[in-house]
Amino acid sequence: MVPPAGARLLPRPGRSPLLSILLLLLCSGGGCLPRRRPAGPPVVLVPGDLGNQLEAKLDKPSVVHYLCSKKTDSYFTLWLNLELLLPVIIDCWIDNIRLVYNRTSKVTEPPDGVDIRVPGFGQTFSLEFLDPSKRSVGSYFYMLVQSLVDWGYKRDEDVRGAPYDWRKAPNENGDYFVALRKMIELMYEQYGSPVVLIAHSMGNMYTLYFLNHQTQEWKDKYIKDYVSLGAPWGGVAKTLRVLASAGK
Ligand SMILES: *[C@@H]1O[C@H](CO)[C@@H](O)[C@H](O)[C@H]1NC(C)=O
Repeated sequence: MVPPAGARLLPRPGRSPLLSILLLLLCSGGGCLPRRRPAGPPVVLVPGDLGNQLEAKLDKPSVVHYLCSKKTDSYFTLWLNLELLLPVIIDCWIDNIRLVYNRTSKVTEPPDGVDIRVPGFGQTFSLEFLDPSKRSVGSYFYMLVQSLVDWGYKRDEDVRGAPYDWRKAPNENGDYFVALRKMIELMYEQYGSPVVLIAHSMGNMYTLYFLNHQTQEWKDKYIKDYVSLGAPWGGVAKTLRVLASAGK
């Protein structure tokens, strides 16, 4: 097991007290410490439905309106991008963000020529601000992450985000759970402490699904705590209706 980082700051046995005091004086600015003392156990954030950015790249056979882009050279922010929610443009947006259910394979697929990806797995930016322009309207996990940073945490190191394609149910996001498990194990090795999971809203359904698929030994070893914020444990009929009917 990796020793806690703080342990390295203790004087080694055999070092003279004078040298220790000298080192202490030299290092009192914090500049020459070999490693930052951890502020607390490592933290993984699991956002809710609509709670992280999504990017899209298009090469579509057809569009629903002549104003809609048919092809893009690179990925652009599909969520949250307020400019895409304007009248008419929103029809293009719906035609890109929607999922098509395949009755044969029983899984959802993006429409033809739409490639969706989730930016920033392991980082916090895509859930701190839903809108990359960082307009306050898209601010989400920012306050929480900033508070952790003020306590001594470091973004993308001992506090990391686990964004996902929230349009899909957990059973269609197998790769995500493999990546989440790997990230938790890596953070455990790196910081010598089990991880605290913080999930919000529908992210709790995802977290519960994830935990239910791990063995008790794995959870005992790698999970310190699970903080569940605003979890809809009783189900969310309203959201189901919105998602199933596109709000109509
Ligand atoms: C649905 O899935 C089946 C089986 O994977 C596939 O052969 C078929 O092309 C899919 N249908 C559409 C419309 O994509």
